[in-house]
Amino acid sequence: MKYRVTLLLMFMNIGICLAQHAGLKVHHLGANHTLIQVLEPQKYLLLPIEEAAPEATVNVLVNNQCDQTLNVRLAMNRVDYLVPFNLEEYKGKCVSFNIHTGNSRANVRDAMEDACWGEIVLSNTYHAENTEKFRPLYHHTPLWGWMNDPNGMFYKDGLYHLCYQYNPYGSMWGNLSWGHSTSKDLVNWKHEPVALVPDGLGLVFSGSCVVDKNNTAGFGKDAVVAIYTSAGASQIQSLAYSLDNGITFQTYEGNPIITSDKECRDPNMFWHEKSGKWILILAAALEKEMWIYSSPDLKNWTKESSFGKGYGAQEGVWECPDLMELPVRGTDKTKWVLICNINPGGPFGGSAAQYFVGDFDGKTFTCNSNPEVTKWMDYGKDHYATVSWSNAPENRHTVIAWMSNWQYANNVPTQQYRSANSLPRDLELFQGEDGECYLATTPASEIESLRAGAAMKYGSFSAGTRKVSKKLPIVNSGVCEIALELNARSAEMVYITLANAKGEETVMSYDLGKQVFSMDRTKSGLTEFSKDFPAVTVAPCPKGNKQALRLFIDRCSIEAFEGEGRFAMTNLVFPDEPYTTIAISTAKGTCKVNNLIVYPLNVNK
Ligand code: FRU
Repeated sequence: MKYRVTLLLMFMNIGICLAQHAGLKVHHLGANHTLIQVLEPQKYLLLPIEEAAPEATVNVLVNNQCDQTLNVRLAMNRVDYLVPFNLEEYKGKCVSFNIHTGNSRANVRDAMEDACWGEIVLSNTYHAENTEKFRPLYHHTPLWGWMNDPNGMFYKDGLYHLCYQYNPYGSMWGNLSWGHSTSKDLVNWKHEPVALVPDGLGLVFSGSCVVDKNNTAGFGKDAVVAIYTSAGASQIQSLAYSLDNGITFQTYEGNPIITSDKECRDPNMFWHEKSGKWILILAAALEKEMWIYSSPDLKNWTKESSFGKGYGAQEGVWECPDLMELPVRGTDKTKWVLICNINPGGPFGGSAAQYFVGDFDGKTFTCNSNPEVTKWMDYGKDHYATVSWSNAPENRHTVIAWMSNWQYANNVPTQQYRSANSLPRDLELFQGEDGECYLATTPASEIESLRAGAAMKYGSFSAGTRKVSKKLPIVNSGVCEIALELNARSAEMVYITLANAKGEETVMSYDLGKQVFSMDRTKSGLTEFSKDFPAVTVAPCPKGNKQALRLFIDRCSIEAFEGEGRFAMTNLVFPDEPYTTIAISTAKGTCKVNNLIVYPLNVNK
């Protein structure tokens, strides 16, 4: 019978049109082909997504011309969530969606059974209120959809702009665009319209923005100029500019502005005062090199040098570079730091950010350490694609990371959105005990403005092998900052345990004999979504019995900073219920805890 219906349809050469979609005409044309005409447009077409479904190719036709192509996991078996396609920009035009599902279907009747066709709908509203218990309260997240690298960050007229790798059409990697948020204080974020979307040259991968104060490019004084990777059949570098402070961008008709036969991406640029030129660093991903270019006008670039062959961690691809001049604490010297994100090959598997300290003469970066020296910016598993804000006030060098890891980023237990940024951090250099220069990473001081309500001051106390336990705040699922000083005295191992009543715990420890701080998230809560998630991460800590620590806890993350920023460690955790206690104990002997303070945190509503 099924066979006969298919044959009949083939002979009649017609599609099947369902009538139940208000304002839409849905034509099921073949086993892998559906056409949807929008007859009475509303603000959005809501697309039903199933994350386990394969990507369908959705060609958006405007007056029958293809305007853009999206890859969307249209639901087959069940609808996980809806994402909005914005129809407003096509007002007054005829819009249709030509969809190739790419599934191996036997016939059109089977294809019609897909769950998406029952729930695809026009709507004037889209509900973006948070539905996720793990959504961080004070870390930046997109309202919905996927986010990876922070990129194109700049400061202008009192606002910090944060763009990011964004998929508006599902919470897994794809359709890379630049999402955009702004903030006056780096901690309270406002969501802005998407800044850059894929075009004929490809997806919009990572890049950077500068404020062209002297109109070197000719787009206008103070134009915001973005250079990013267009990722199509190959990776080329493109330019776009904004004359309204980054709210809308115009792509440059002369794109691409840099090409290469190698896989190159993530251009990062800055104005180099001494040589009077723009400098751009490009990651030659598979060569494990950073290529340095210069330009008078942001459009014409000359390759000056390359850095990296044989230096530092070489296991994975090199991505997302940054180059900046930083002061060395306690001296009047400065040094140049080249940030190089690598994936895989991080110290605990997967993605991580390494850096090199050296000199830069306007053309060449020279590393001051031996090639075999590897320095890590952060000793956790969830700190990647770290780059800085350009044009930041008071010559500050503030960075932000993507708080995830390519090993499991697509599988973490959220659905409405996926991934958050780390806290913003200010960078300086300090001279280590071995004479090398290292990065000091301090949480941006603006974070202190999040302290809300009465601080919980636990003062000073001793702890031994039996845990001394103190309460964490209840409000806002216990999100807080914890500050403490430790005098380990006779104890060689000191444990700091965050736990909940379900027995889930994250255990941090100082092994002062070995001079290491570690964080064990193997029993931290949900871990089974990836074999690579359970982990113990380890950082070198300063010499001596006295240690100072700051911890920042949000709904799915812990960031640990040594008191003077001499190590940072960022790890995701997914406790089924918030942690309610912090406990201190030792393996043997006693330690003293001084000035344990817990600050409940909140954002401005
Ligand atoms: C780093 C990265 C970049 C690239 C982007 C694509 O996480 O792979 O190299 O530009 O993500 O989303």
